Amino acid sequence: MLMIHGGTPLEGEVTVRGAKNLVSKAMVAALLGNSPSVLRGVPAIRDVEVVTGLLRVHGVDVDLDGDTLYMDPTSVGQAGVDEINVHAGTSRIPILFCGPLLHRLGHAFIPDLGGCNIGGRPIDFHLEALRQFGAVVDKTPEGTHLSAPDGLHGIRYELDFPSVGATEQVLLTAVTAEGTTELRNAAIEPEIMDLICVLQKMGAIIKVHTNRVIEVVGVGALGGYSHRPLPDRIEAASWASAALATGGNVFVRGSNQADMMTFLNVFRSIGGAYDVDDDPLEGGIRFWHPGGPLKPVALETDVHPGLMTDWQQPIVVALTQADGLSIMHETVYENRLGYTSELRQMGAGIELYSDCLGGAPCRWGRRNFLHSAVIAGPTKLHAAELRIPDLRAGFSHLIAALAAEGTSRVYGVDRYITRGYENFEDKLRGLGAKIERPALERTREPTPADA
Ligand code: EPZ
Repeated sequence: MLMIHGGTPLEGEVTVRGAKNLVSKAMVAALLGNSPSVLRGVPAIRDVEVVTGLLRVHGVDVDLDGDTLYMDPTSVGQAGVDEINVHAGTSRIPILFCGPLLHRLGHAFIPDLGGCNIGGRPIDFHLEALRQFGAVVDKTPEGTHLSAPDGLHGIRYELDFPSVGATEQVLLTAVTAEGTTELRNAAIEPEIMDLICVLQKMGAIIKVHTNRVIEVVGVGALGGYSHRPLPDRIEAASWASAALATGGNVFVRGSNQADMMTFLNVFRSIGGAYDVDDDPLEGGIRFWHPGGPLKPVALETDVHPGLMTDWQQPIVVALTQADGLSIMHETVYENRLGYTSELRQMGAGIELYSDCLGGAPCRWGRRNFLHSAVIAGPTKLHAAELRIPDLRAGFSHLIAALAAEGTSRVYGVDRYITRGYENFEDKLRGLGAKIERPALERTREPTPADA
């Protein structure tokens, strides 16, 4: 449990390192090499620990020196179901081990997948693509076993939705499959482009065409890589929103303008100010509240280059301080606005609707999910007892507690926030936040490995 004494503007600077949603995938890619890989700027977060554990049980030698990760996959071997289960926890990462393990060992196992509770999170696209590559999928009560008795062969596949994970699945499987793969309606998030850079360094041939078409020419073997990941644009946007909601001023060292263009437009439309320092070593973006009322906006989340679904929650907290009615239409996940009930408890004026408010109708409106929010501001937030439901919603609860008057108690920080935000308590203290960790409570909080 974390006690947050709210009402202090956040002021100072924080540093963001490699993006969580690239680092974990680049670690899986190391499995495909016939020589060691080096990944720099790795954040100290639990998702990295989970993938480290999974690589080790598959025989990969993993060493962390500072923020540099060395991975030697030359002795990859089969892992037992129990070992995989222990290390995966409820993480979703094991699904991405399928292609590399099928290539290297002819067998892979997927335990029951968890992950943040933000929707159904099916894996049908993944399994369908793997089947088409030639995998035999056997669902059993202990999980899903896959084998590739005749090897893996290039495919032509079109995704129903530009899924990040399914695009990564196809890339990680196609690079060493026999023949050429053409993926249509692919995700093109900056993290996907960075994964393509990693695979290219290993020897892959991957062409990104217009209109979300990615072509992969299978190669016989891949080597290792040395890579510095793109910075974490979700963490950067979280600190930016915290600066805005608390009326503060935060320099986010390491954040990169090009990856955050859509967020920066929204930040400015709401009334936030920012300044980009593009020094390659020391640069970043300064975000601040310039004073005066914030402006209401109508927004909807979308796949890249649209507004990221992971930016939605911190932006909504900032919008509780805007002068008028704002709309947030969540089109990527069906159930990613549940966290607003805690914000309501803190005094925010937020109503949820199943209609598609603003923008084009999306697949969730037809299915009656509460996926649009109307936010009436400005409202004075007051302290509350908060139970964090997932990683991004959890950080937005922290922002709300920091902006609120009084002392909030936030439960679940060890379970969720540490998955994706490194040293967040030190960073918060460095920004002047008044937070406390009652010593007795610290030992009581569970830390299961879900990602
Ligand atoms: C990745 O999840 C990220 N996670 C998520 O961030 C992020 O919110 C999401 O991409 C969208 O940007 C990681 O990279 C580890 P998807 P992923 O497949 O790959 C549907 C965070 O907090 N879908 O792009 O699991 C799915 O239900 C996390 O860092 C299918 O229908 O997301 C969703 O509606 C949370 N069938 C949509 O696609 C499938 O087989 C997008 O999901 C796969 C996905």
